[in-house]
Amino acid sequence: MIRRSVLLGTGSALPERAVSNAELAKTVDTSDQWIVERTGIRNRHIAGEGETTGTLAILAARRALEAAGLEGKDIGLIVLATATPDQTFPATAAKVQHAIGANGGIAFDVAAVCSGFLYAIAVADSMLQSGMAQRALVIGAETMSRILDWEDRTTCVLFGDGAGAVVLESREVAEDGPGIIASRLHADGAHCDLLCVDGGPSSTGTVGHIRMRGPEVFKHAVVNLAGVLTEVLAAAGIEPKDVDWVVPHQANQRILDATARKFGLPPEKVVVTVDRHANTSAASVPLALDTAVRDGRIKPGDLLVLEAMGGGFTWGACVLRA
Ligand code: ACO
Repeated sequence: MIRRSVLLGTGSALPERAVSNAELAKTVDTSDQWIVERTGIRNRHIAGEGETTGTLAILAARRALEAAGLEGKDIGLIVLATATPDQTFPATAAKVQHAIGANGGIAFDVAAVCSGFLYAIAVADSMLQSGMAQRALVIGAETMSRILDWEDRTTCVLFGDGAGAVVLESREVAEDGPGIIASRLHADGAHCDLLCVDGGPSSTGTVGHIRMRGPEVFKHAVVNLAGVLTEVLAAAGIEPKDVDWVVPHQANQRILDATARKFGLPPEKVVVTVDRHANTSAASVPLALDTAVRDGRIKPGDLLVLEAMGGGFTWGACVLRA
C-alpha cells in the first residue's frame, strides 16, 4: 500500500456570455478564418457584470464538492491558481473558503499563470502527503478578459474566462491504485518579457494588460512541454503508450498537435476544449478535465497526464490515475 492524493470529484464553471469569432470580428480587426486557422479557437466565454474570478471559482468548487459527495466543512486546504484575482488581497482562495463553509482550514493563491493549476496541484499533493490536511480543493480560475487590451488583436482573440476545480483526498491505496503518481515543475525567468502583464500594484500601480510575443512563446512551449512530459513519465515509470488521456493546457490547437506529435501520442488521446473555451490560463486544465470526466471519456482507473506552460516562463506536468 502507498499513500496518495486521490481525485474524488471535478467541477467547472463558465461565464454566461459566449462570444464567437464572428462576434469578435465586429469590434476587432480579425476574422473567424484567421483565428480558427492559427489557433483552433471558435468560441470563448467572457465574464459579465457580477461575474468574477471568485464567483466562477466558488461555482466550480461547489460542483466539484457535489461530485465528490462532500461539503465545505470536509475541506482542510484550498489552493487556488490565478493571475487575475478579484483583489490584490485577500487571496481569492479565502473568499472561496468562506463561501463554501470551509472556514478555519488553509487557503491561499498561487501565481504561475497558465501553469498555475499544475503548480497548485503539486503544492496541494505535497501538503496532503506531509499531513497538513486530509482533503484539498485545488482550483484554477481566471477572468483574463479583464486584463486584455481589446485594441491588440494579437492577444485579445486568444483568451477566455472560466474556472475548474478538483477535490483530492489523502488515502492509502494499492501501488496500481488511484491518485497522483508524479509531478514535475519548472520555471525560467530569463524569458519573462515574452509573455507578461505590463502593470501591477508595486510597479505601475495599475492592473496592466497582457503582452505576448506569440511566435517565440510557441517555440518555447513545444520544447518545454515535450521535455517535462518525458521527465514526468520517467518519474512515474510509465511509457507514452500506457497513457489513456492527456489533458493539456488549452492555448492553441497547433501547440497541442505539435506536442502530441513530438511525444508520439495519438491525437485521439488528447482532450481538446480550446475550440470552445479559448485559453483560460490557470482554469484551462481543470476545465478540460471536468469536461472529459462529465462526458464520460475519462473513467475510474484511467491513467492521465496533465501538462501546462505559461508566463514566467513556468511549466509543469502531472501523472495521476483517476
Ligand atoms: N487577426 C488577423 N490577423 C492577425 C491577428 C488577428 N487576431 N493577429 C495577428 N495577425 C496578423 C499579424 O499582424 C501578422 O500579419 P503580418 O504578416 O502582416 O505582419 C500575421 O497575422 C501573422 O502573425 P504571427 O504572430 O506571425 O502569427 P502566428 O502564426 O505566429 O500566430 C499566435 C500567432 C496564434 C499568437 C501564435 O504565435 C501562438 O499561438 N503563439 C503561442 C501563444 C500561446 O500559446 N500563448 C499561450 C501559452 S502560455 C499561456 O497560455 C499564457
